[in-house]
Amino acid sequence: MFKLESQSFGLDISDLSLKIIKLEKDGEGLKLSSFGETRIPSGIIKGGEIKDIENLAKIIKKGLKQVKGKRIRTKYVISSLPEEKSFLDILQIPVMNEEEIENAVRFEAENYIPLKLDDVYFDFEKIQPISKQKKYQEILIAATPKHIVDPYFKALEQAGLRPIALEIESLAIVRSLIKKNTSTGPLLIIDFGETRTSFIIFFGKSLRFTSTIPISSQALTENISKNLKISYEKAEKLKKKEGLEGKKEIFEAIIPPLTDLAEQIKTCLKYYRSHAPKDQTLTDKRKLERILLCGGGANLKGLVGFLSSTLKVKVELSNPWINILKETVKEVPELSFEKSLAYTSALGLALRNYD
Ligand SMILES: Nc1ncnc2c1ncn2[C@@H]1O[C@H](COP(=O)(O)OP(=O)(O)OP(=O)(O)O)[C@@H](O)[C@H]1O
Ligand SMILES: [Mg+2]
Repeated sequence: MFKLESQSFGLDISDLSLKIIKLEKDGEGLKLSSFGETRIPSGIIKGGEIKDIENLAKIIKKGLKQVKGKRIRTKYVISSLPEEKSFLDILQIPVMNEEEIENAVRFEAENYIPLKLDDVYFDFEKIQPISKQKKYQEILIAATPKHIVDPYFKALEQAGLRPIALEIESLAIVRSLIKKNTSTGPLLIIDFGETRTSFIIFFGKSLRFTSTIPISSQALTENISKNLKISYEKAEKLKKKEGLEGKKEIFEAIIPPLTDLAEQIKTCLKYYRSHAPKDQTLTDKRKLERILLCGGGANLKGLVGFLSSTLKVKVELSNPWINILKETVKEVPELSFEKSLAYTSALGLALRNYD
């Protein structure tokens, strides 16, 4: 098994694109072995739900043939599941031995997951405490409906692949962005994608909260296209070139959804502030004062400055190579830092192989 697994690659399946990353050992460390991105025509996946298994399988096959770097010879893949269709939560249970945990977690999970356990694929793991605690332990539970997951399995198998794990995207993001999976203060990760934005709050050794909102980088392009009466393609180019720092008419086109985004981030921060104190393990009620951005949309010029001045919180671009390369290195010759931000989930999925 170990041998097979050491061959696997990461496949991030989004509504409109799939991204492939394969890493390989390089002395003590790791290096990039293969990577690639392939577009998915709209309608094949909608909001993380696969509508057309056959065509997705074909696109995956095509994507595999087109990778840059080394050819991918393995069938073994670690692929993503959509955050917006999944449930992640944290349970607190009394300290008990390993055998008792599973029953206790299953019993408790019924109260947390808004679906019948029979209708979901369910998994859990113990969260390592950040401070000494005696009375109870924390368990991260994850569930995705079977009717969402099964088509992913089918598409991967039809593409000739063997999924060794399917992982909810936020878990992959955290693996790639949080150095050694530990953060002494709470932080908010924002994945600003083409079709949606995800929030992930991480503290200690686990993510604590996730949610997805429909604000998207695509919406910025659509606004430019509409306001300036130009094609989507031209608008996309202008968005990347100008961002918030260029022409006034571009700024004006994209500022409404970004203001909306800032409001939603505020709501998320407020939610955390009101819930964190109830979280008994987090005895030091440190404020959430740091935001990390990832996803292709994070590259928008002026976004970091806009969010930090609006939210009065430290906002930075994340480093998806932090657990792969030396800390000071944020890109490789083949994959620029800008591109790497869009590969955050794929890098995290590929890294799972080396956990
Ligand atoms: N330099 C840039 N400036 C502004 N936006 C950019 C830049 N580079 C990429 N983007 C935007 O990033 C988006 C793609 O991001 P990403 O690859 O993270 O999305 P995705 O993972 O495919 O979609 P999703 O996560 O929403 O399912 C596109 O909308 C693109 O316009
Ligand atoms: Mg994405």
